[in-house]
Amino acid sequence: MGVRFKGWGVAVPERIVTNDELSKTLDTSDDWIAERTGIRERRIGGSAKSLGVLAGKRAMDDAFVDPADIDFLVLATTTPDRIAPATAPMIAHELGLSCPAMDVNAACSGFMYAIRTAYGLLETGNKRILVIGAEHLSRWVDWNDRNMAVLLADGAGATVLEYDPNDTDLLSFSLGADGSAADLLTCEHGGFFEMDGKEVFRRAVRVVVDSAEKALESAGISADDLSLVIPHQANIRIIQAATQRLGIEMERAVVVLDRFGNTSSASIPLAFDDARQNGRIKPGEFALLTGFGAGMTWASAIIRWS
Ligand code: UT7
Repeated sequence: MGVRFKGWGVAVPERIVTNDELSKTLDTSDDWIAERTGIRERRIGGSAKSLGVLAGKRAMDDAFVDPADIDFLVLATTTPDRIAPATAPMIAHELGLSCPAMDVNAACSGFMYAIRTAYGLLETGNKRILVIGAEHLSRWVDWNDRNMAVLLADGAGATVLEYDPNDTDLLSFSLGADGSAADLLTCEHGGFFEMDGKEVFRRAVRVVVDSAEKALESAGISADDLSLVIPHQANIRIIQAATQRLGIEMERAVVVLDRFGNTSSASIPLAFDDARQNGRIKPGEFALLTGFGAGMTWASAIIRWS
């Protein structure tokens, strides 16, 4: 069975918040944030719904599909507009879709979990699925807490996945979850995001390397065969450590966190779109998509770009 990526779209709020701006109200500095995370600025604003609608519309336009062509909408979000209803039906309504629509919450692995879910739905008879990752993390940030405020941001990215009986862009997956680490990164009802950053960092590198190796093995290729790594954008040092352990030079990794910060389930599609716009993904080449986050959850996939 084959699955093709037919189109991509992204959306970020207009409002840019620089490290210097945060330094005015928090005990932090541009130097610290840039050196420890790689982030220089981020976008703040919108909502999961509004950003998701925009990214979804752009992906559908890019894929040249009409609302009637979409059989299912899977929205990855950690920050739905409301606990109920899910945000996906509201996005579907705005986009003129009349298909089933649901949210998937796997935190920063959300986009990859949504892709895996869409793959399963395509396997069982659906023809075309809109997958969106959309986050309004800034709503759940305590702007007096420098630990989280310098990291999290808002944004959305989307792709249209299409069934293809002849060939496939998606070669393998490796997903996992470990609820024993649930307390390391949390956001309670009515509360704010909190994190044991050091421990999340340590585990993130481990699960990215492990799931990437498993996905590479099941795709029947090695790290040397990869033209590109499109990782979740949490911290440049996590990307450096993971690629180094996989034996991949940093030049092959896509980094957009300097401009967008950590946008959770939007970060992989934002990075993917950036690579595509800059001609970094070429037909026939292999790429590793890999995410990790609260849960803890993690997910890697190998694609061959057509
Ligand atoms: O998206 C999914 C999951 N999220 C992640 O993957 C994030 C994983 N963790 C991280 O990226 C890093 O652990 C952080 C960026 C959160 C923190 O970086 P770190 O290198 O682990 O810093 P640290 O917590 O060890 O703090 C080092 C120092 C401390 O000062 P002392 O004790 O050395 O004097 C902190 O108090 O930096 C201080 N510090 C800050 N200084 C300025 C901590 N946060 C800040 C800040 N600005 N925002």
